[in-house]
Amino acid sequence: MPVLPPWVSDPAGPAAREIVPLYWIMFAAAVIVLAIVDGGLIWAGMRYRERPGVPAKQFHGHNLLELLWTVIPTIMVVSFSILSFQRLLVLNDVDTGADMTIKVVGRQWSFSFEYPKEYKGVSFLTSDGTPLPAAEELHIPVNTKVKLEMTSQDVIHSFWIPNLGGKKDLVPGRTTFLALQADRVGEFKGQCFEFCGDGHADMLLRVVVHPTSEYATWAKTAIEDYNRRNSEETKAGRELFKTLACAGCHTITGLTGGKVGPPLTNIASKKDIAGVLSPVNEENLRKWISNPPGVKPGTQMPNLNLDQDTISKIVQFLLTQK
Ligand code: CUA
Repeated sequence: MPVLPPWVSDPAGPAAREIVPLYWIMFAAAVIVLAIVDGGLIWAGMRYRERPGVPAKQFHGHNLLELLWTVIPTIMVVSFSILSFQRLLVLNDVDTGADMTIKVVGRQWSFSFEYPKEYKGVSFLTSDGTPLPAAEELHIPVNTKVKLEMTSQDVIHSFWIPNLGGKKDLVPGRTTFLALQADRVGEFKGQCFEFCGDGHADMLLRVVVHPTSEYATWAKTAIEDYNRRNSEETKAGRELFKTLACAGCHTITGLTGGKVGPPLTNIASKKDIAGVLSPVNEENLRKWISNPPGVKPGTQMPNLNLDQDTISKIVQFLLTQK
């Protein structure tokens, strides 16, 4: 188990880095206070204890000591307040230099996101005419200040990605803001940080940070995937897959249970089709389904003589199986 909290041992964004010094200042102060108070206590106990022939020494009042242990803690608490407040001012400034605004909605028990319509020439509009929605996983470009505009549909939730620092509640009926920025590419995990009912522990978050040059490519793929998942063609393909011969041989989790052929639940993420066609894309899937024995002589999958329209629909559906 790591000894230090993740934002101290491995801060990955300006917000996390902003509070690390404060952590160490308070930690050091706490250690010094512990040493002085407990050290003094032990020393006084030994020094003035009752011994054979020597009664325990009693004290009543000591102006200098009382002054010190009133003034020093006051100075400490006030300094901590000032330091904390300075950092709060920096952390609460979500607007300066913010390049992108993403909406966040919390509900029992998940986070969902809505990307902006457009970001630096990258369009996030789906075929529904609305910006790309997403759940649980948020994709951002590296070294980019993203302003999160957050609210809740039911109870109070809290957004926190420890390595990136900053933590903010999502409050029903109100909008709260948080700046999110990552220094390096990678994946950062988080979780709802406000107890919000039965599923609180499962209210997970993931921030995926992309290199700036690859962000547009990610967005394009994400929108294509979304559009494909929600297209009429895919829905029709799904029905066809269930009712045609496909279902008898192939398993797709939650849809069909055929055992003769390979399962196709993740076919769109596989390296090849039937070990002979690579990559798994529209063209190759179409080629395969049109005439399996023609591509791989001896394969058990027969040529079903499907028409091109049916094949298109099934291919669109299979491409959503990631
Ligand atoms: Cu949402 Cu805890």
